[in-house]
Amino acid sequence: MTVQTIPLTLPPSADPSKFADFGREVVGVNPGDLSPSDFAEIEQLLYKYDALLFRNANISPEQQYALTKAFDPQAESYGHGNNKTQSTEKSILHPDLKTIPRVPQVQLIGNGTVYNHEGLAAAALKHPSHATFHKTVVSPADEAAGVTRFYRWHIDAALYDLSPPKVTTLYAIHVPQGPQQTCRYDDRTGDVLPVPLGTTAFVSGRTMFDILPRVLQSVAVRARVRYAPHPYVWMAPAAAHSTGLAIETEGKERPLAELPSWVEDKVKVFPVTWKNPVTGALHFQVHPCAAQELHVDPLPDGAPREGALYPDGAHLTDLKEVRDLLYKMQRPAIAPNLVYPHDWKEKDLVLFHNRGLLHTVVGAFRPDQVRAFHQCNLAASDEPVGPTTEDVRRYA
Ligand SMILES: [Fe+2]
Repeated sequence: MTVQTIPLTLPPSADPSKFADFGREVVGVNPGDLSPSDFAEIEQLLYKYDALLFRNANISPEQQYALTKAFDPQAESYGHGNNKTQSTEKSILHPDLKTIPRVPQVQLIGNGTVYNHEGLAAAALKHPSHATFHKTVVSPADEAAGVTRFYRWHIDAALYDLSPPKVTTLYAIHVPQGPQQTCRYDDRTGDVLPVPLGTTAFVSGRTMFDILPRVLQSVAVRARVRYAPHPYVWMAPAAAHSTGLAIETEGKERPLAELPSWVEDKVKVFPVTWKNPVTGALHFQVHPCAAQELHVDPLPDGAPREGALYPDGAHLTDLKEVRDLLYKMQRPAIAPNLVYPHDWKEKDLVLFHNRGLLHTVVGAFRPDQVRAFHQCNLAASDEPVGPTTEDVRRYA
């Protein structure tokens, strides 16, 4: 067996007992050129551990696309559609993505200006900053002292028309060095998390579900979330909470009538919990900023009604109510001891199970700090699978 794994190095902030089944470093194989049997092992490992790290990887955009596609051979286009984000100028994602011309499914992301890169003469990149998205911002003095925020917790997914990618691959090409920063939650909990400069932070969707009190697990297994049509255009005028885990409800969303044309058939309604194809575990997988409504099914026959929330089911359409409930269910899982902030080194390749975790950009760079990553994910050929009838009976 050539594929070997070792646990990820966790920061002192992380609770190791909560990461026993999260993340592995893979050694002994070249991720750009895997044999079919090695890939089969990697695929199982990805779903089992949700994030895989390869150090010192050399992988071209073509190889990265091929590796990403191997997880879903029928998938073709980038997770948001090829070359679409650049043409959709009103989308909140518009400034963050530049396509590699040869391989349009691979995006160049990062910060600063990159020259002569894979067919791009010059690409001006901007690391997303909480300052352009959150309702409140860190003061200039605090920012100078290294205080920062989570930008936006999310799943990589268009959440309209296209299906959420199964895996995202992130390859670090240039990683600027700099002092640690302090990610501050600013939500009156006093929570802070020391983070490497420009980390990508991950939290497990399985842990998010597992740590919920029983009454909220019952809601989670019975609930489906309806996403806004063209959610990134819809949310663009609105501002986010200081944790990056919700939009503040101020009525600023773009009205549905002002969105690019949309049809009901392409609006996404997904279960709140998604079933892991290998372990069978349930992962709480909701993109909180894009959610618009919640449908909760009634309790199944025979389930105890005492203390249950929405025992007869519910259709929540009030945005504040929807967001408050999701926040209550998701905020516990982004506590500092449950976050894995990856300390990027050049040539790190990270594969993550996009249907099994949430992640966010963190931190702030100066314009002269050049960061260049290749990112690839593919709109999936199928939809996420929700809990089984047995799962609902078990948790409801
Ligand atoms: Fe992402």
